[in-house]
Amino acid sequence: MSEAADQIFAMLKQSAQSGAPLYLQLRKSIEDAVNRGLIGPGDALPSERDIASKADISRVTVRKAVQDLVKGGILVQRHGSGTFVAPRMERVEQSLSRLTSFTEDMARRGMAVRSAWLDRGLYAPSPDEMMVLGLSSNELVARVARLRIANDTPLAIERAALSASVLPDPAAIGSSLYAALETTGHRPVRAVQRISAANLGDDDARLLEVPSGIAGLHIERISYLASGKVIEFTRSIYRGDAYDFVAELRLSGPGEEGRP
Ligand code: GLP
Repeated sequence: MSEAADQIFAMLKQSAQSGAPLYLQLRKSIEDAVNRGLIGPGDALPSERDIASKADISRVTVRKAVQDLVKGGILVQRHGSGTFVAPRMERVEQSLSRLTSFTEDMARRGMAVRSAWLDRGLYAPSPDEMMVLGLSSNELVARVARLRIANDTPLAIERAALSASVLPDPAAIGSSLYAALETTGHRPVRAVQRISAANLGDDDARLLEVPSGIAGLHIERISYLASGKVIEFTRSIYRGDAYDFVAELRLSGPGEEGRP
C-alpha cells in the first residue's frame, strides 16, 4: 500500500469517532491529508478498490467521496490513469504600492493575458456609482465587466464603472482599460484600494473555476486623475488561492500621521 494511502487511513481513523456519514468522513480524511501536505499535488490516490477494502467501506461510498473532491477541485481524474491530487495554483505576488493595470502586471510576469467579456455598455447609474463617480441621475455610467485570465487560468472578475463622458463607447476598448484611458488622457495617477475577504457565490465560483463558497478577495479600487477627479470605480473578485498582496511598510517620519 502506498504512502498516500497510509496517510489517508491514518486521518480516517482519527475521524471515525465523529459519527458523520462514512463518505463525509472519507472526504474529510482525504482533504485533511492534502491540506496538511501529507499527500501533495500530483500524487496518485490509491484505487477505489484499495481504499474500499482497506477502510472496509463500499466502493459506492468511496466513489461518492472522491467525486465530491473532484467537483471541489481538490482531486483531478485523468481518464485511464487514475485520480490525483490537483496541481496547486502558482500564486501571483502583487505589490500594493504601484498603480498598475492587470495587463501590465501579468505581462511583467511573462504571462499571457486575455479577458472574457461579461458586460459592457452604458447604463443609468446605481446610487453607489452616482456617489463615487459624482454622477447625477440623468447622466450615464459606462460599465465594463470582464473575467481576467492569465495563462489560461481565470484569476479575477473585474467590474469597472466610469462616467460615460470619459468612456462613451465601452465596446471600443481593446484588451486594456488603462491603455484605452491613456489614449484619451484619462489614465488614473492615484488610487485607493480596499481589500476584504469574501466567500465566492455560485456564479463567481463557476467563472473562476473554483468550488462554490471558497475564500476569495473582494477588491474595490477608486482611482483619480491628477486633478483629483474620480475616474474609475472598480469592484473585483480575485481568487484567494492565486494572489498574495504585498505591501512594504516603513516607519513614518517625524510629523507624519501614525507616528507612535
Ligand atoms: C487592475 C485593477 C482594476 C483596473 C484594471 C485595469 O486589475 N484592479 O481596477 O481597472 O487593473 O486593467 P487593464 O488595463 O488590463 O484592463
